[in-house]
Amino acid sequence: MNRALFLAHTAAPSGAELATLRLVSALRDQGRLGVAMVYTEDGPMVERMRARGVETRVLRGRFESRAMTIDSGPLGLVAGFLRLLRLGWSLGATAKELGTNILVAESSKALVMGAVAARRARVPLVWQVHDRISADYFGRLPTLVLRLLGRLCSRGYLANSRTTLSTLPIGRTPALVAYPGVEFGTEAPRPDQRPPADTVVAVVGRLSPWKGQDVLLRALAATKVRPHQVFLIGGTFFDEEPYRAELERLAGELGLPVTFTGHVEDPAAYLRDTDILVHSSVLPEPFGQVVVEGMHAGCAVIASVPGGPAEIIDPGVDGLLVDGGDEHQLTTALDTLIGDPALRARLAMAARLRAKDFDITETAHTVAAFLDDIAQRNDAAGTPHAPERAPHG
Ligand code: GLC
Repeated sequence: MNRALFLAHTAAPSGAELATLRLVSALRDQGRLGVAMVYTEDGPMVERMRARGVETRVLRGRFESRAMTIDSGPLGLVAGFLRLLRLGWSLGATAKELGTNILVAESSKALVMGAVAARRARVPLVWQVHDRISADYFGRLPTLVLRLLGRLCSRGYLANSRTTLSTLPIGRTPALVAYPGVEFGTEAPRPDQRPPADTVVAVVGRLSPWKGQDVLLRALAATKVRPHQVFLIGGTFFDEEPYRAELERLAGELGLPVTFTGHVEDPAAYLRDTDILVHSSVLPEPFGQVVVEGMHAGCAVIASVPGGPAEIIDPGVDGLLVDGGDEHQLTTALDTLIGDPALRARLAMAARLRAKDFDITETAHTVAAFLDDIAQRNDAAGTPHAPERAPHG
């Protein structure tokens, strides 16, 4: 059995890490591929991953993910880069020790570490890409560097959407769109869609300027009928506190009935109580797990395009789409839904069905096959110093 080691640079519970948790634990349950996880800093995901029965390590010589961000400036980026290379070297040792024969990098920082680790352990590296690798998100230089690094170092790409895949210069490298999946629990009962003035609206996601929560607040302030309650569900992990303060000020100024829940481990209970889920990103969303979660929970969903949501929602059938950042369009969509509970119910019913297409067990099957294939190609290529395989039961 092949054994894959997944690598994440942060253990904060943000979108990519939650997607990784679901995928790795589904792979573990299927038992076709051996899996293990490495984080390079401590955080909530470490325990959550262990609770799923996945062998999880925190690498020594921890990496402070916040010390290196897109805004660090050139010197900060270079220093961070060197640190990542060093960590990659020790990660290579961990990979060997765990009997890994395929490495999967879950972020761009993990790609840098993984590139070194894969060389040291002499195993192929796959880059699971959760972000659009483009200048509007990363800046021009980092984008060039990442594309080049991907080109030079990864033997395969897993992209969370066609949107994401289209930002990668994959050439002839094997690539697969592996949509993040939902874990289907039992379908819990939920209240019917409420009358206009009682409507509950929610947005789920990190409070971050590119997620556009401010656009939603301004759009809500202009609706014909104001919702009864607005939930802003999401934490601030990556120096986003000033944005939260701005949102609080804005909500107060506009007199909106907004509740800031902070980070919520499992937003399902909120979603069951939500009539309209809004996704309001102002940059193209790579995928948008919250859109599927909202659909699965039986909400009427409004999401922004371009980006992943266009691959999920059939507008007018199982949700509505608006141009990201256009608050007038969002107001119009909100007016349409707030004013028409029957339409909300129709969209929500179709959405529940559509969400079933994003079952994590399906994604895990295709990912396992893909990783097996990459490992096999590597074996066939006859790496002269193929790593010694640990015995697997
Ligand atoms: C990142 C992306 C998000 C996606 C998630 C899982 O957080 O921004 O769009 O849903 O990864 O792949």
